[in-house]
Amino acid sequence: MSTPAQQKALVLQEKGGQFALINREVPTPTRGSLLIKNESIGLNPVNWKIQQLGLFIPEYPAVVGLEAAGTVHTVGEGVTDFEKGDRVLYKASFGNDEAPYQQWWNSSLMQRASKLPDGISFDAAATVPTALATSAVALYSQPGGPQYTSPWAEGGRGKYAGQPLVITGGATVVGSAAIQLGKLSGFSPIITTASLKNAALLQSYGATHVLNRNLSADALRAETQAVAYGLLAPGGKLVVILPPSVKETTEGRTITGLATGVRLQQDPQFAEGLFKAIPALLQSGEVKPLNVEVVPGGLAGIVSGLLKKNQVSAAKLIVHPQETA
Ligand SMILES: NC(=O)c1ccc[n+]([C@@H]2O[C@H](COP(=O)([O-])OP(=O)(O)OC[C@H]3O[C@@H](n4cnc5c(N)ncnc54)[C@H](OP(=O)(O)O)[C@@H]3O)[C@@H](O)[C@H]2O)c1
Repeated sequence: MSTPAQQKALVLQEKGGQFALINREVPTPTRGSLLIKNESIGLNPVNWKIQQLGLFIPEYPAVVGLEAAGTVHTVGEGVTDFEKGDRVLYKASFGNDEAPYQQWWNSSLMQRASKLPDGISFDAAATVPTALATSAVALYSQPGGPQYTSPWAEGGRGKYAGQPLVITGGATVVGSAAIQLGKLSGFSPIITTASLKNAALLQSYGATHVLNRNLSADALRAETQAVAYGLLAPGGKLVVILPPSVKETTEGRTITGLATGVRLQQDPQFAEGLFKAIPALLQSGEVKPLNVEVVPGGLAGIVSGLLKKNQVSAAKLIVHPQETA
């Protein structure tokens, strides 16, 4: 297939503004990058926050999005690890050519791409990059966090056998990936909080105990971060993926926030180790893709998908950009 000159893209027109479908040029792959035909895009809560709160984006109109899966169409000069026809998942960056809310996109961050094993669909693959990268940064990389040895580093697999791990919000896609990584690291027990309808799913990921996060008359009803902080032993560490809302108190119990994209940029070697490990982890089933809920309508479906904020339970919203009318 030859490369089309034009494609459909969903752009955020101005800070705090609305999304619009436009025609834009298909990017030309630069040195060291890939041109990818985009098949499945994962939606992320941060994208409605970007739209409604005007966060992070310096210039508009802006193509946004964080992750997707598709097929390598053109390989830029100097790329050796990927070839035309490879099926890949990718954790994207900001930038109009690099962000995935479009039909074709240019990926220049090779250390954030993984080839897909046979049998892993594009939809399944698009559930993985942000959830896995965020939970991996929290457990293994973030300064101020526990910085455990990752399961893909030497001696890391099963290293923490007999040590407990608590993950609040286990049915979020990030929490579900964290449970799976905790299992690979050997932690036991792995205790999580979620709506109980998701208990069996979270146990299939490796949780040993699922506590009802909606319990009335119980501390779990309190704010999620406060509950997690309250569980820490002296010297314990809490890593949060939303801005910290709890004040550190006594006994050296610390709380650390993180921004996945920032950390992957600061530590490209960690990013490379993670994304190189993903194909084998998916192939062996040690990391399972998460549940998928497809939003119809191609790129236009992103707008209705992002409006479903806080209504999704234990699933990743996915759209198919090539179906855009
Ligand atoms: N810092 C970063 O780099 C970073 C990266 C990724 C995501 N995030 C942020 O992390 C949050 C989660 O993202 P996500 O994509 O994983 O979300 P998600 O999968 O869309 O979250 C949906 C799940 O949230 C659970 N939930 C809702 N309210 C909760 C609460 N108060 N406490 C615990 N669980 C709750 C629900 O569980 P039940 O169905 O079991 O009730 C539901 O299944 C978002 O706010 C996102 O913006 C930050």
